[in-house]
Amino acid sequence: MAWTRAILYSALSSYLWHPANANYVWPNEEIDELERILFEQDSIFGQPGSDLASFVSGCSGFGDGPQGGERNFGAEWLRTAYHDMATADVNAGTGGLDASILFETDRPENPGKAFSETFGFFSAVHSPRSSMSDLFAMAAVIAVGSCSNGKVIIPYRGGRVDAAGPGPSGVPQPQEDLASHTASFARQGFDVTEMIQLVACGHSIGGVHGVDFPEIVPNPPNTGTDNMVTFDTTNNDFDNKVAKEFVANNTQNPLAFGQNETTRSDFRIFNADGGKVISQLADSNDYFLSTCTTMLERMINTVPRSVKLTDIIKPIAVKPRNLFITPNADGTLYVNGFIRIANTTADANKSQVFIHPKSRSGKLLPVATATTKKGMSGGCDYPNCGPDFIFYMFNTTISAEDGISSFTIEIQNDAAGKTSQFDNGGSGFPFSDALQPLFSLSNQTESVVDNVVYNQLNVTALVLNAEDFSDISLIINVPVNLTAPISPWTQSKVSMKPLSKVPGTNHTLYTGSWKAASAAGTVPFDIVATGNKSTVSSLFNSWDNVPQFFDE
Ligand code: HEM
Ligand SMILES: *[C@@H]1O[C@H](CO)[C@@H](O)[C@H](O)[C@H]1NC(C)=O
Ligand SMILES: *[C@@H]1O[C@H](CO)[C@@H](O)[C@H](O)[C@H]1NC(C)=O
Ligand SMILES: *[C@@H]1O[C@H](CO)[C@@H](O)[C@H](O)[C@H]1NC(C)=O
Ligand SMILES: *[C@@H]1O[C@H](CO)[C@@H](O)[C@H](O)[C@H]1NC(C)=O
Ligand SMILES: *[C@@H]1O[C@H](CO)[C@@H](O)[C@H](O)[C@H]1NC(C)=O
Ligand SMILES: *[C@@H]1O[C@H](CO)[C@@H](O)[C@H](O)[C@H]1NC(C)=O
Ligand SMILES: *[C@@H]1O[C@H](CO)[C@@H](O)[C@H](O)[C@H]1NC(C)=O
Ligand SMILES: *[C@@H]1O[C@H](CO)[C@@H](O)[C@H](O)[C@H]1NC(C)=O
Ligand SMILES: *[C@@H]1O[C@H](CO)[C@@H](O)[C@H](O)[C@H]1NC(C)=O
Ligand SMILES: *[C@@H]1O[C@H](CO)[C@@H](O)[C@H](O)[C@H]1NC(C)=O
Repeated sequence: MAWTRAILYSALSSYLWHPANANYVWPNEEIDELERILFEQDSIFGQPGSDLASFVSGCSGFGDGPQGGERNFGAEWLRTAYHDMATADVNAGTGGLDASILFETDRPENPGKAFSETFGFFSAVHSPRSSMSDLFAMAAVIAVGSCSNGKVIIPYRGGRVDAAGPGPSGVPQPQEDLASHTASFARQGFDVTEMIQLVACGHSIGGVHGVDFPEIVPNPPNTGTDNMVTFDTTNNDFDNKVAKEFVANNTQNPLAFGQNETTRSDFRIFNADGGKVISQLADSNDYFLSTCTTMLERMINTVPRSVKLTDIIKPIAVKPRNLFITPNADGTLYVNGFIRIANTTADANKSQVFIHPKSRSGKLLPVATATTKKGMSGGCDYPNCGPDFIFYMFNTTISAEDGISSFTIEIQNDAAGKTSQFDNGGSGFPFSDALQPLFSLSNQTESVVDNVVYNQLNVTALVLNAEDFSDISLIINVPVNLTAPISPWTQSKVSMKPLSKVPGTNHTLYTGSWKAASAAGTVPFDIVATGNKSTVSSLFNSWDNVPQFFDE
């Protein structure tokens, strides 16, 4: 068993991130944002989320406080995912990863800073396209990926739905007996063998903090630290030391041989089958890692029965990133943007990349050359997570009469030395001058009134044939309940007003202004024009492209 798993693991790891999402067509609301946060850990764009993995770099990240070793963010992210999942009832089809933990942090079963700190990292990328439960699942994936130095790559799916309030309690606690732990894990969908495996996997990193569990790890007086005692001697490495040291009886795991016998839950659990499984885990690190890949994948995919997860999200090989249209004074449109290409698809030193734009009526327009240069790259922070990305930029000027509807991408001398065409499933990458925000004429301002911070967003948009539309709106996604940690989203809609015609074109500039207390966030905004003939939209525009002003 151990052998087959280990062989399977090493065979799999060579193509774990081979770019391929079956039938993927850009843009895709379900996948694009999650794919960006997971694989664009380093980016040329300063968008939120593009550096989350850096906080668990080397596993400890910046989590080692001034006193050293007090908090391991990777461990906090993994524990958060488990505590959120642990109240699942798989027979009833309820609970699981649903971010309900955020409403449950005052419970005795959820002590410590892990949950609020994990939320603190990931709230910046919480959006209608990235639920907090999808982000907590991703937090576990990134933490374990980084802490194992790329040896545990958990396949990641999206589609989780956030709870609107607290769920039932039931996270296992260390003072409970083996029978209640066995029953609790059974409720979560794990038998005794799987319970031992999952606990050993979880307790491979981090430790017990005396500040939160003084009955397990007594606090020396006046240290002013969180007083962490780690589960094994390699708390910054996701490896089988926790099992090895347990089996060898030289463990420092406070939940196995801590001074308080009542709270030795790891001891009781690891011995629940007479010590068989923990010995297997101790015998082979490869077996440990492949077992944890399987068990942690099951853990993060434990969701309410009503939730349908997406396919496994793989890195997208060729992906438009930021595309812009700006009207010139002479009746032409300046079109520019970025294409993100995986290093498995293009070679930064050799490939030539061409953009083939199509006019509004489908006519081929002059080809634009896309270029890259040193430093225009990104990708993952830890091995085996995904490819490096090369960012290519392009620009072209087209007549406003022609307009633009889409483009295809040609890569000459690609990573395999061939020429390949990318037509996004046949109809090209959609990109239209029907409706676009004009970032250079837009702005955002942060201001403080009576100690409340406000965000204002002023947007100018370019609208083609505006007379066709009865309504042109700036739409901001905001939480329904601003005082809840997370809440369902609602759309705050502002009608945009015509400003002026763009000379020599059929485009009109529209402006709209939105302001709210900053608790409403800076979630990407939409512009939608509705008319009798058609509805056109520009969705999920990042505030990071909007120039920022500050007000007292
Ligand atoms: C009977 C089951 C379990 C019990 C009683 C238990 C108990 C505990 C306790 C008391 C701590 C110390 C927390 C702190 O001081 O911050 C801890 C830490 C941790 N647990 Fe568990 N745990 C269990 C299962 C799991 C599972 C299944 C996972 C994940 C797969 C997990 C992941 C973690 C992690 C990563 C930490 C370290 C947190 C940090 O260093 O901040 N635990 N656990
Ligand atoms: C041991 O843990 C139990 C359960 O948390 C607690 O009630 C007891 O006071 C602890 N004993 C000591 C000596 O800390
Ligand atoms: C560890 O301790 C247990 C119980 O005292 C004992 O049965 C076992 O042989 C010990 N293992 C080692 C490797 O010393
Ligand atoms: C491109 O060339 C530079 C300098 O010769 C080299 O350091 C780099 O590794 C090359 N990159 C690729 C992707 O081959
Ligand atoms: C592509 O990037 C990955 C991840 O950094 C790296 O392991 C691989 O060697 C790169 N491949 C090429 C052809 O440069
Ligand atoms: C526009 O693209 C051309 C290559 O086609 C490049 O030489 C030029 O620098 C680009 N201009 C800007 C402003 O990026
Ligand atoms: C504006 O629209 C009219 C009517 O459809 C068309 O005849 C004209 O060519 C358009 N002008 C430009 C610059 O697109
Ligand atoms: C801010 O944006 C609005 C709307 O796009 C625009 O009217 C205004 O001139 C801009 N202000 C500045 C200072 O750029
Ligand atoms: C944004 O628009 C509001 C309302 O029109 C205006 O008062 C404010 O000055 C604008 N902000 C900037 C930076 O121009
Ligand atoms: C849309 O259709 C309605 C009814 O047919 C008409 O009254 C209205 O003027 C039309 N609006 C536009 C913007 O064409
Ligand atoms: C908003 O959230 C807060 C905090 O979770 C809660 O106390 C309050 O009842 C919620 N309000 C509504 C209208 O749901």
